[in-house]
Amino acid sequence: MKISVIGTGYVGLVTGVSLSEIGHHVTCIDVNQDKVAKMQQGISPIYEPGLSEMMTKNINENRLSFTTDHRQGLKHSDVIYIAVGTPENHDGSADMSYVIQAARDIAENIQQNVIVVTKSTVPVGTNDMIKQTIQSHMAANLQMEVVSNPEFLKEGSAIHDSFHGDRIVIGAESEYASNVIEQINQPFGVPIFKTDIKSAEMIKYASNAFLATKISFINEISNICELLGANIENVSTGMGLDQRIGSQFLKAGIGYGGSCFPKDTKALIQIAGNVEYEFELLKGVVNVNKKQQGILIGKLNDCLPILTGKRIAVLGLAFKPNTDDMRESASIRVTEELIKQGAHVIAYDPIAMGNAKSILNPLVEYADSIEEAIADSEAALILTDWDEIKNIELALFKTMKKPLVIDGRNCFSLEAVESNGIEYHSIGRPV
Ligand code: NAD
Ligand code: UGA
Repeated sequence: MKISVIGTGYVGLVTGVSLSEIGHHVTCIDVNQDKVAKMQQGISPIYEPGLSEMMTKNINENRLSFTTDHRQGLKHSDVIYIAVGTPENHDGSADMSYVIQAARDIAENIQQNVIVVTKSTVPVGTNDMIKQTIQSHMAANLQMEVVSNPEFLKEGSAIHDSFHGDRIVIGAESEYASNVIEQINQPFGVPIFKTDIKSAEMIKYASNAFLATKISFINEISNICELLGANIENVSTGMGLDQRIGSQFLKAGIGYGGSCFPKDTKALIQIAGNVEYEFELLKGVVNVNKKQQGILIGKLNDCLPILTGKRIAVLGLAFKPNTDDMRESASIRVTEELIKQGAHVIAYDPIAMGNAKSILNPLVEYADSIEEAIADSEAALILTDWDEIKNIELALFKTMKKPLVIDGRNCFSLEAVESNGIEYHSIGRPV
């Protein structure tokens, strides 16, 4: 199969590289020239474990190439994937402008019949709109079909997820198109669920909204645990043993961030609103998350009511470990609030500092190591549970002015911090 992928962000690049790894010939197209120049040299523009190696291998074996030229990139392709961004509009709805542009790019450049596969997360009905857009702009003698094939990978384990996912969802209008996409994906060995297009589009939003709901639910339980003296770690473990509940996504913390849960929950509220349905539960999930992202500052202020001129270390900036993605990370809000209260903020992240520098308040300073960040600090806030942070020698905190650690990810056992004489406040656990 000759395949093209439009958009080489987290999803497009991982899709292109994985499809080439299972033997397809893939051309990835992106409008960003710097990105394409890097990828042509085998350099991944994003940090994703295992991605660079697999990318270089498939470039060298002539199955994978990159271009900024849609005409050249779409030439002779049987199947074209759309993997462009669907960011948030001001009103919370999904911005479809990149998807529409990609559809126009396809229509204006194809010279053969194609199947267009939508990987981007798009509101129910979008694939119909993509089809109409392409058909009304393409050459009259051509034929095309659309397939919804939403992506479920997680950043930080994207390659692993592509080869070991729980399911591949294929929503198609014809058996022919559904079978073609099934055959393409067969070598992944992941269970395939075939359905209609609208249901496939909804499966993606419903899945993300459900996972976000689990997180907001456990965060609320953790807040109640704090008031009652229970321990959220024990509660999550005990709940997760029930297979109907499941143990995953029950880790309390400082709320969900990232490029998808925040925007997709708001988009689903809008999608429901457009058909005059008020999604009350999901509105609650979003509000709880907003509150939870501010919880660490409250805990810090309980210990240090005045932060003016105080050196505060922030450990972990990415929205989760193993990624350099800063989109919607709690660190944006936390560092902003610290600066607003006059604190001197010293931040450290093993991978995301490059991206953080272009996003966080310019008054944030950066340390080269955890040791440098915490030395002489009056408090250390933990925002991301990187292994490097979880494996820290606890005695190191004694190099602080006074060892005060506010941990948003429950990285350490209560016994270990107590035996090291650290004042420690975490999420949903007794002080
Ligand atoms: P991204 O913003 O990281 O990347 C999008 C890329 O598309 C950019 O490089 C941009 O330059 C390129 N692009 C935009 N318009 C183009 C055009 N007309 N032609 C060629 N290139 C174009 O996006 P992402 O994080 O990969 O997300 C893509 C979609 O997948 C979104 O709908 C998102 O919700 C969904 N999704 C993302 C993830 C994730 O982990 N990031 C997981 C599952 C689903
Ligand atoms: C999420 C979904 O897990 C993917 O299935 C989906 O494809 C993707 O969104 C998407 O549509 O983009 P991702 O955002 O990469 O993936 O990361 P997650 O591991 O889901 O974490 C999201 C946020 O929730 C992080 O801030 C994380 O710290 C937080 N989280 C996660 C918790 O607070 N507790 C948990 O138990 C799990």
